[in-house]
Amino acid sequence: MKNGMESRIRRIARRAVGAPQAATLALRAAIYAGAVTLFGAHALAAGLTADQATRIYNRIAGVPPSAAVLAQMMAATDPVTAALIATNDPAFYNGTIRNLAAPWTNRDQSVFVPLNDYTATVVGVVRDNIPFNTLLSADLVYIAGASATSAYSLPAYSPANNDLYQEMDDNNVDLSSPANLVSSTQSAITGIPTAATAGVMTTRGAASAFFVNGTNRAMFRFTMMNHLCDDLPTIMDTTRPPDRIRQDVTRSPGGVSTLFLTNCVGCHSGMDPMAQAFAYYNFTYPASEIGATAWPVGQIVYTAGQVQPKYSINNTNFPQGFVTPDDSWNNRWRTGPNQVLGWSAALPGSGSGAKSLGTELENSQAFASCQVTRVFKDVCYRAPSSAGDVAQVTSMITSFQNGYSLRQVFAQSAAYCMGN
Ligand code: HEC
Repeated sequence: MKNGMESRIRRIARRAVGAPQAATLALRAAIYAGAVTLFGAHALAAGLTADQATRIYNRIAGVPPSAAVLAQMMAATDPVTAALIATNDPAFYNGTIRNLAAPWTNRDQSVFVPLNDYTATVVGVVRDNIPFNTLLSADLVYIAGASATSAYSLPAYSPANNDLYQEMDDNNVDLSSPANLVSSTQSAITGIPTAATAGVMTTRGAASAFFVNGTNRAMFRFTMMNHLCDDLPTIMDTTRPPDRIRQDVTRSPGGVSTLFLTNCVGCHSGMDPMAQAFAYYNFTYPASEIGATAWPVGQIVYTAGQVQPKYSINNTNFPQGFVTPDDSWNNRWRTGPNQVLGWSAALPGSGSGAKSLGTELENSQAFASCQVTRVFKDVCYRAPSSAGDVAQVTSMITSFQNGYSLRQVFAQSAAYCMGN
């Protein structure tokens, strides 16, 4: 087993067994806090007990705090400020955030996957407090910093393989260090023009999972699942017009046209006009099949103005179906039952390409609610269940939408779930 993977399994396991360790630590901290009070410091300013501070720390970092940090938390002015201290622990980035993002980068939704540019970018965005509602549209990717590159003899970023991240993983490079993990732009290192970058959707990690094979609908489906917390079966809407459904979707599946109207339309009438935004992308398409442009195998392909052949596979299934002319997209779910996803009134609901589609998705109410609710569950070990929980999540969504700091959501959740 690779080094990096082994230590990750240990980290994931540690989250599960954190409680007994926490008790010992709490005891140590109580003694320490007692000493602080004795010397007249302004301890207990937040009114946090050692138990509460320890729980906050554990829920955020997955490891117990040192006695000194615990005392610092107990001296903080309020529980959220105390919780923010815990977000400085390297384990918050190398464990908690990495494990949060890893399942987003593969179809099996497995946490046991190597580090990649998608996961590393999420870690960097959280660490550097980059507004989370740029995650699906920014020209951004996190790579190794110069000092880490020389210290660990890392290869340069390559759009054609995952070697850099695999090496960072194998060497347990600490992603919390601003010297080790630095921001760069996709346009500078992947060959994709800025206008065609769409945050994590156009990372190699996402492309290799969701633009490979198929019809690029997978990128839409998995982005909806991972970032709006909605799988398509739950948002099926059979009341949208079917005119943008591609030719590969038969109108009489199994010879029954009612099935098309009651089932296939439910997803494809809304999905197909949005997945059209990805019309110029592919992953590992043989250069011979897309004309003169020679792209190396194993990397994201972007063919400006040229619809990928995968948009017309199985076009005889229903020849009268929609033929994709370009990468323009429309959000048909702005009307009908899926209005509840809370689309931004400041956006037009249509556009061209993945970047504007990403902007549409990341500024929805469902996006903010998804991120906040997931963090709440991760930190509180339960879905919001009581009226109090629901009120807390609602207020965290509102504050998240002001600056979109995911780190703050972790701190607020941990403070709320710190116990008595
Ligand atoms: C719950 C939502 C949903 C429903 C209902 C649905 N589809 Fe799909 N369909 C998808 C998604 C998502 C994909 C992309 C799958 C992928 O690439 O991972 C897809 C892909 C396809 C494809 C492309 C081939 C492929 O496998 O990638 C065809 C053809 C298709 N669907 C036909 C149909 C037909 C016919 C029906 C009705 C019997 C139907 N679909 C019902 C969501 C749905």
